[in-house]
Amino acid sequence: MDKEQNASCDRRGFLRGSSAIAGATAAGVLLPTHFAFGQQAKIKVGLMLPSTGTFAALGAAITNGFKLAIDERGGKLGGREIEYFLVDDESNPAKAPENTNKLVQRDKVDVVIGTVHSGVVMGMAKVLKDSGTLWINPNGGAGAMTGPLCAPNFFRSSFSNWQTTHALGKVLKAKGHKNAVFITWKYAAGEEMLEGFKEGFEKEGGKLTHELFVPFPQVEFQALLTEIASIKPDAVVAFFAGGGAAKFLKDYQAAGLKGKIPLYGAGFLTDGVLEAVGDAAEGVETTLHYADGLNTKKDNAFRLAYAKTYKLQPDVYAVQGYDAGQLLVAGLEAVKGDIGNKVGVIKAMEAAKIDSPRGQWTLSKAHNPVQDMYLRKVVGKENKVQGVAWKALADPARGCKA
Ligand code: PHB
Repeated sequence: MDKEQNASCDRRGFLRGSSAIAGATAAGVLLPTHFAFGQQAKIKVGLMLPSTGTFAALGAAITNGFKLAIDERGGKLGGREIEYFLVDDESNPAKAPENTNKLVQRDKVDVVIGTVHSGVVMGMAKVLKDSGTLWINPNGGAGAMTGPLCAPNFFRSSFSNWQTTHALGKVLKAKGHKNAVFITWKYAAGEEMLEGFKEGFEKEGGKLTHELFVPFPQVEFQALLTEIASIKPDAVVAFFAGGGAAKFLKDYQAAGLKGKIPLYGAGFLTDGVLEAVGDAAEGVETTLHYADGLNTKKDNAFRLAYAKTYKLQPDVYAVQGYDAGQLLVAGLEAVKGDIGNKVGVIKAMEAAKIDSPRGQWTLSKAHNPVQDMYLRKVVGKENKVQGVAWKALADPARGCKA
């Protein structure tokens, strides 16, 4: 059986199990229910995020954002108190199944929030598909999660990797760039962002001439920067994030490329790192589903609350954590805290219109946000919005049988 068939069989199996429970409950067979016992019990929320390594700051921002959304509702979910369980996934795919099982088997959480790294997301997917645990992914863009592996209990409050770079093709074309080089880490996120860009750029008649990779999480860029200098492309497009992005921006400038070959990227390249890089990122243009200076009522209120609570400026990761909280709130309010009613929670989450700091978004059939992609430009310490590069961009969800 191939992966896609597996996905649709699992989905039917899940729904069959849920309706069997509903039927049994109606007949009184399962009384007293878990909910009758557990109504006052706390909802167990498992946060599986990196708190060490190159993505540590991303994990912290997601946690802050998530907790802010919950705290704005009095610290409760559907009227119930929350108990948090934390696991540091170290952005290590090899440990992902074991780490996910700490939350699922050991702590018996009701919902998992995680994670940042696409490779870890793939390791989580296997465990969470089998257990059927509700899962909201607040970052990791691995296409398979909302593609061939899509499932009723899988949700994302962030993006697919493809989405973050697809609009860049149009952007480069509008600037008159005919060819480009893509540089990134060699793992799912980098490879999928490269593909998203390539597809968009080729549609515009552009040519991706070189694909340059460094192993994750290495930050030795010198040899590849020397190669870029000799290739002399019209433009360079990059995906790095967190500590790796800061180092890349500084190395690009130090190699003398800044101001010579224009640099673009998925917005992660310049999000959350501007304090650390001096003027190395000035003028860099990126696409992403969030930007500074949106100046909407919701974004202004969010930024003020975040800054007051954490004495920090929010970034895209904080927004994704906040929206994971908002999505979960929508699910649990609809069932008045009865998380045992998983079908009810899922239906409410599927129908949610999230009033996000990034702008309103809804979920696709594959449970991935359909959202505007902004063009942003680094001006001082801000990723200043320049306009919408692609309105309501939906991931194609190839292979998802939902
Ligand atoms: C990913 O691995 O999917 C990933 C990690 C960091 C980002 C974006 C995507 O900033």
